[in-house]
Amino acid sequence: MPDALNSDTTFDPTYNQISVAPCSPYIGAEIGRIDLTRPLSDGQVTELRRAFIDYLVVFFRDQEISFEDHVRLAEYFGPIGAHVGVKTISNPTEDPRVRLFHYDETTPKISGDIWHTDQSCAEFPPLGSILYNHTIPPNGGGDTIFASMYAAYDALSDRMKTYLDGLTALHDGARIFGPGTPAASHPVIVRHPESGKKLIYVNDAFTAKINDVPPEESDAILRFLYAHCARPEWSFRFRWRPHSIAFWDNRCAHHYAVPDYWPAVRSGYRVQIDGVVAPVAG
Ligand code: SIN
Repeated sequence: MPDALNSDTTFDPTYNQISVAPCSPYIGAEIGRIDLTRPLSDGQVTELRRAFIDYLVVFFRDQEISFEDHVRLAEYFGPIGAHVGVKTISNPTEDPRVRLFHYDETTPKISGDIWHTDQSCAEFPPLGSILYNHTIPPNGGGDTIFASMYAAYDALSDRMKTYLDGLTALHDGARIFGPGTPAASHPVIVRHPESGKKLIYVNDAFTAKINDVPPEESDAILRFLYAHCARPEWSFRFRWRPHSIAFWDNRCAHHYAVPDYWPAVRSGYRVQIDGVVAPVAG
């Protein structure tokens, strides 16, 4: 194992082109033996793709990447996507493939401080997002929490699973990104297109209502699901360091950016990978 990695870390022994250190029982793994400033070998890409599916979110440390490096990593997984929001807190950069995620004492609100998957309001929501932060609040704060929607689904009672089966919900982008942002209906329970596993696919940011049930019933069920999805049992809280990267599977993981560091600076860039399939019922 590489010297840079802590010797008491447990590695997944089924990987040998990269190192994979699971972060928690249900979600997250830190990837080592990799240099993202260079093209990856075929073996590394194959194993990285597998780790992404197995662990839902992969983290990298000490990677000082350029826009080109960032985009190259994303393109191993699919074409680069564009943000569908009309009014966003994150901003474009001079490169249309890369967005700026910068917050400081002048920023009244950060983005992502509500449980969500990115832009589930789109007909084809992004496959994943890769956030690189080069600057982190010096005294801590600004963590991102991730939660496994597979584990959340598995923990539902059989009666609740039966109730949710076949329902759809409206995801309305205007709730977060203003009028003109798309809205789309998706099944409440979906099957991940690569792992084949079932998961809960509603989130507090975008899901406006469960379709075809009375509003009071929709509100009560969504309230229950949001609290259930956010339980710490299937969450992992990632503590950033300068030049860390988090790369999440938007199809099965929720995330929440903790807004506890104002007026400190947290700054980086995000690249989004296009979703080429709509979520399908589980
Ligand atoms: C996001 O919601 O995509 C941003 C996550 C973060 O800033 O930690």
